[in-house]
Amino acid sequence: MKENKFEFSYRVYENLEELPEEQQWLLSEARAVTAQAYAPYSNFQVGAVAKLANGEIVAGSNQENASFPVGLCAERVLLAAASSLFPKIPIETIAISYKSENHKSDHPISPCGICRQSLQEFESRVNHRVQLVLGGMSGPVYVIESASKLLPLAFTSSELNGG
Ligand code: THU
Repeated sequence: MKENKFEFSYRVYENLEELPEEQQWLLSEARAVTAQAYAPYSNFQVGAVAKLANGEIVAGSNQENASFPVGLCAERVLLAAASSLFPKIPIETIAISYKSENHKSDHPISPCGICRQSLQEFESRVNHRVQLVLGGMSGPVYVIESASKLLPLAFTSSELNGG
């Protein structure tokens, strides 16, 4: 028997102002994009903004539905948009923020499990890591160098070809 170890580290900034300039801008855009969410059921509005390797900026927000499972998270709306508008272009960074009618938005949220799976496959198919910048409307900001770090032992496309 042996034990494998998975190490994960990420940077914690005290607030948006402490971030490098480009990440600061992306996070403030993600905050603004929360206004484009359609989230009448959860009242939890999420905004995501990506900078692509070709310099383009693409945004996504969560889009809910009366049939709840039909709803899409901001991250997957963004990935679908980026991939449709600019096929095969890597994403350098995605900033994600949120606001809620019911709670304060003073700490980061991180992508849900399904979005982690989508982010992992996006990284692997364009062969480029996606940096994540996570923050609320105020408070600390987390910077994660590669989205795949959030999904250890991921199920990947290579398994469908024998591993
Ligand atoms: N949501 C996102 O858009 N991204 C996340 O990372 C977490 C959750 C959305 C899904 C749903 O519309 C609402 O937030 C509440 O779960």
